[in-house]
Amino acid sequence: MKKTLLLLLSLLAVSAVFAQNPRRPDAPLPKWEGIAETPQMGWNSWNKFATNINEDLIKATADKMVELGLVDAGYVYLNLDDGWHGERDAQGFIHEDREKFPSGIKALADYMHEHGLKLGIYSDAGTNTCACYAGSLGHEYQDAFTYALWGVDYLKYDWCYTKDINPIGAYTLMRSALRAAGRPILFSICEWGSNKPWEWAADIGHSWRTTGDIGVHFLPVPVTYDENGRPRWRPQSVLDILDQNEPLRAYAGPGHWNDPDMLEVGNGMTVSEDRAHFTLWCMMAAPLILGNDLTNMTEETLAIITNREVIAIDQDPLGIQGLRLKKEGDLQYWFKPLSDGAWAFCLLNAGPEDTTVELDWESLDFTDQLSGRSPSFSETNYQAKDLWNASVKPFNTRAKGKKRGQTVGAKTTVLVPSHDVVTYRLTPVK
Ligand code: GLA
Repeated sequence: MKKTLLLLLSLLAVSAVFAQNPRRPDAPLPKWEGIAETPQMGWNSWNKFATNINEDLIKATADKMVELGLVDAGYVYLNLDDGWHGERDAQGFIHEDREKFPSGIKALADYMHEHGLKLGIYSDAGTNTCACYAGSLGHEYQDAFTYALWGVDYLKYDWCYTKDINPIGAYTLMRSALRAAGRPILFSICEWGSNKPWEWAADIGHSWRTTGDIGVHFLPVPVTYDENGRPRWRPQSVLDILDQNEPLRAYAGPGHWNDPDMLEVGNGMTVSEDRAHFTLWCMMAAPLILGNDLTNMTEETLAIITNREVIAIDQDPLGIQGLRLKKEGDLQYWFKPLSDGAWAFCLLNAGPEDTTVELDWESLDFTDQLSGRSPSFSETNYQAKDLWNASVKPFNTRAKGKKRGQTVGAKTTVLVPSHDVVTYRLTPVK
């Protein structure tokens, strides 16, 4: 009896100490959990408008996101990129540029929330942003609290002007600040893959860029050299990014995604290239952040970005980034395991000629080491749904005694146009 009482008392004493001191005072705060369980979706101002942003444009974009069904399709974040900033005041607090945003960012966030959207903002771990506005270095907590007070939901945090700064320390500091500020904010790390963030950022951010900046290019831009023989900066193309982001698939998962940069759909590539770009980002479980002018886009662009079945590949709850099974000349064979035993299959033709391909499903069998799954094409019959059927010949499977569109023992002949994809959702037939 005495012993039990003693034990109880000491337990009480220990928990009292923990209640007062739940963590070491110098321990950084954890990241916000439960955000980006599937890759984040939204729009960002940079790819189309650079720093030429203002309240009218952002509100018009929000209105279009609602009107065109983009919000319903899942695009809920509207993100201001570089160039919203005014000056810091005497106490060091950052303010918006009141010429560009006369009603202020708080009012803009309220507008988003009233329309079923969320507001994203942009800053930088260094002294300055990439476009030379004020960075957050030395003001991390002040900035995080300011964003939280404004009602911001998303922070993209860049890596310009960070000489001698330790990236893990800098991103952990902002993670702590965001947590301390008390408002759940998605933390999008943007250091271009320079310090291999996939190896250290899963507990720090909700996504991390894996590459340099994307440009409106499907094919790689040729390297040129400056007068000192050093290669000049060049934008990354869709094909470059596929090669850089694919090998990192094991690092991605719910709440922590590889970010191969924002979409360039609708910004000047051909419709085929846009379709291929969009589909492959979905195959790679990438954040889907639109980057075009939503107030002025073609029907084809809208059809691409709102293809629900392709978006569902990206947003599949299993959260496994797809893999490139093989490259055969200009052809690339991509698979992504989906929930309920399904697979997404995407055949990319990166070459200049339209190509007819015979898919012998059994010969495409493999085991994915990451998910431990195999399509088992010789035993499992799949119903194959063509997700972009407007762009290819009708599905054409031939196998004796098989229904159209089933795979065991079947071969499927498809025409893959140049710089385009053929994409199927393969659902096992019970
Ligand atoms: C960097 C980022 C871009 C964009 C610009 C803004 O280059 O990688 O995505 O945010 O800065 O200046």
